[in-house]
Amino acid sequence: MPSPRLTSLSRGAGCGCKLPAADLHALLGDLKLPHDDRLLVGIATADDAAVIRLSDELALVQTVDFFTPIVDDPYAFGAIAAANALSDVYAMGGTPLSALSILAFPLQQLGGEILRAILDGALGVLEEAETLLAGGHSIEDPEPKFGLAVTGTIDPGRMLANSGARHGDALVLTKPLGTGAITTMAKHGEVSEPLLERAIEVMSTLNRNASISALAAGAHAAADVTGFGLLGHLHAIARESGLSAEVSAAAVPTLPGVAELLADEEAISGGTRRVADWAATFTNFAADVADWQRWLLADATTSGGLIVAVPSERASEIPGQVFGRLLKGPAGIINVS
Ligand code: CO
Ligand code: CO
Repeated sequence: MPSPRLTSLSRGAGCGCKLPAADLHALLGDLKLPHDDRLLVGIATADDAAVIRLSDELALVQTVDFFTPIVDDPYAFGAIAAANALSDVYAMGGTPLSALSILAFPLQQLGGEILRAILDGALGVLEEAETLLAGGHSIEDPEPKFGLAVTGTIDPGRMLANSGARHGDALVLTKPLGTGAITTMAKHGEVSEPLLERAIEVMSTLNRNASISALAAGAHAAADVTGFGLLGHLHAIARESGLSAEVSAAAVPTLPGVAELLADEEAISGGTRRVADWAATFTNFAADVADWQRWLLADATTSGGLIVAVPSERASEIPGQVFGRLLKGPAGIINVS
């Protein structure tokens, strides 16, 4: 019997299977966590990774990310999952060092070759990131899931935490948006092969160069775009920095073909709808912003680019596109025109 398509086994897909942000905040908001000075970045600020001080010059950065198959090709799934997990270290301005794999897999149903291909895909990306696979844990599960817990190092004086952005900073996005819409349509078999290939290439690309150039350009804050969409992750930077954001929808880098896809209701995943509902509580759209652009800004993304807040005169040093800026105003409010 041929094995089923990988994505047919996943209920959610990629970072779109995150628990809704609004529910999480309500549930975790009053968790009783002991205060400890060594924890430089914890769960309170919705940052990409935790930072734990070892000395005045050195801190550990730790993150974990895993999800269900977002594409059918197991090698590509492994590569995307690895690039996505490493991305949270890069989004803090850290350097990844080692990783542990997390695997849930129906071995009887899918067989060992697919499992090997997922791990091979991840190993290729880890090698590019000069990050060691140091171990892992696997369980039997009818719904496959894969990801990594990544540990890295960071200079505590040069972190790109969400709270560091300043009034007047330009906002740069380092990868085009639209992978959520493309993979959702691919699940329905309604996307051309070249478009899916392009999305896989974008999702497998490391945010390493983006992170290195953001640090070199004196960036103040960064976050990677994942399951909460551009609006959700930008909201965290603006809120934690006590600023408002201004976004020009036409300036947001977008994968070719996505405008057409988003004209079809089917391209809008459940994850994207949840982001859009939540984002409506902090986003104002000018009347002439098209519907597809509104969905694009909420697109539940996997392994997206970095949103970097950087002094505007240095924005051109970061490989990406300026799509807005941060201003004095109600914290966390985003105005899209
Ligand atoms: Co992140
Ligand atoms: Co994450």
